[in-house]
Amino acid sequence: MKVKKKKEVEEVCLLEPVKDPFGLVIFGASGDLTRQKLIPALYNLYHNRLLPDNFFIVGAARSRFTDNGYRDVLKETLKGKDLWDEFSRHVFYTQIEYSDASSFVSLQRRIKTLERRFATEGNRLFYLAVPPQITAQIVEMLGAGGMNKVRGWKRIVVEKPFGWDLASARDLNGVLHRYFTEDEIFRIDHYLGKETVQDILLFRFANSIFEPIWNRNFIDHVQITAAETVGVGKRAGYYDKAGVIRDMFQNHIFQLMSLIAMEPPAVFDPARIREEKVKVFRSVRQITRAEIPEYIVFGQYIQGEVDGTVVPGYRDEEGVRKDSHTPTFAAMKIHVDNWRWQGVPFYLRSGKRLKRRVTEVSIHFKPVPHSIFRHQLSEEIAPNVLVFRIQPDEAIELSFQTKMPGTRLCFREVNMNFSYRQQGFYLPEAYERVLMDCLRGDHLIFVGQEGVEKAWEFFTPVLEFLDKGKKLIFHIHDYRAGTWGPLEAEEFIRRDGRYWWVN
Ligand code: NDP
Ligand code: BG6
Repeated sequence: MKVKKKKEVEEVCLLEPVKDPFGLVIFGASGDLTRQKLIPALYNLYHNRLLPDNFFIVGAARSRFTDNGYRDVLKETLKGKDLWDEFSRHVFYTQIEYSDASSFVSLQRRIKTLERRFATEGNRLFYLAVPPQITAQIVEMLGAGGMNKVRGWKRIVVEKPFGWDLASARDLNGVLHRYFTEDEIFRIDHYLGKETVQDILLFRFANSIFEPIWNRNFIDHVQITAAETVGVGKRAGYYDKAGVIRDMFQNHIFQLMSLIAMEPPAVFDPARIREEKVKVFRSVRQITRAEIPEYIVFGQYIQGEVDGTVVPGYRDEEGVRKDSHTPTFAAMKIHVDNWRWQGVPFYLRSGKRLKRRVTEVSIHFKPVPHSIFRHQLSEEIAPNVLVFRIQPDEAIELSFQTKMPGTRLCFREVNMNFSYRQQGFYLPEAYERVLMDCLRGDHLIFVGQEGVEKAWEFFTPVLEFLDKGKKLIFHIHDYRAGTWGPLEAEEFIRRDGRYWWVN
């Protein structure tokens, strides 16, 4: 069999340009996601000549902006970018009230004018970058106004969390299917657009040496950490209602977990991959409401210091209720009840305003069964750890023991390290990949409805527990901004004889 050389592989693997002309309509265009991620990603694609000549972007939200006023806001994020002026000629803004049908009529008129001006052949991509409570309403309005009736193709992108809970996720799916076919719906989890996350599957299933040890016989436990240094910022309108479970666990963290735990599909195909992930979600042992204090620790940040700057506590952030019980941190232990993973705990944690920004999956192997060095060494031999560093300093690392040079017998832990950046790879931002795939109609990295619902099913008792509001006060522990979360989270894992681990 011919194995491709490195250069050949790199050439084949470059992002494929979008060929179809298109009009992109972003709802929630005044928000953080649009400013910080979507527009910069679109700019990069434009800069790298990956967008067609004929395209336009129209932002829609309740805030009032003129086209130029909106461009000025976006320019702030893209300061100094050489092609900004050229790119910004494709960007427009329309103010909208989501409950007002006449707003959608005006938007439709605007889109039609832009379609003629940019000759986009009626291809439309709708992007819902809004808090999940208003997603269904927007889809209804789009449908009622006939905006889904187009001359070319139409697609709709729904941000995570998909729905608000199990019932609303099902309702939202029903509403979407009234106006769009399944092929036209893209449920986003941008973590799946990260190169390092995609590499988990390749690493597992394109190397023969890991799969035989990827199970309860060799693995002691798995940890997933998604730690952020940022606070809630200007997103309290969304976040204070969502909290860390809806914001990170139901989607990003569960997706990461499923990639680690899934069985190999027979072929690398979106439907088969989704099926395997759903099987994992089905196998996750349900945590009942009564068991929550044993399995989950919640936290909320208080004033502290991050990167040398004093930052306010969560309740003092703009737009957050002074008596908010929204958790900004959670640590939990879950079990995947199947043959492969029986008895192997998965420890998951995520939070805002933590000590360091790092997202990592670590696979902790079992210690050696018998130490032949026990008479010479006082300490135990540290087990091997395999790390997928999702960000920053994207890497895959394997730690192992070696002998320290010298006459005395001493051990030294060293790392075998594959660093994406040191190898000189350009890592496209997740949103570049995600947008490219929507524009090309490729479903590989998007999430299926069944997986979404299974994840909500698992988290329903947790959300019900949290929704008990004030009574919860004893269960949400304070943690100082700039630390690794509440001390209770440390004790929680130490009880199992383990400790949190980030490289
Ligand atoms: P924001 O809080 O910035 O809200 C986005 C926009 O939605 C706001 O600008 C606001 O615009 C509008 N909005 C807010 N609250 C309401 C409301 N109650 N009713 C109607 N409109 C409202 O959120 P983000 O942009 O951060 O997030 C939007 C979605 O994107 C969320 O689902 C989030 O999970 C997802 N996401 C965000 C990421 C990020 O980094 N920010 C990353 C990945 C996903 P206006 O008032 O002008 O209408
Ligand atoms: C989003 C969450 O989905 O992911 C944000 O809504 C979070 O709260 C963000 O900050 C983290 O994404 P990334 O790519 O910066 O790790």
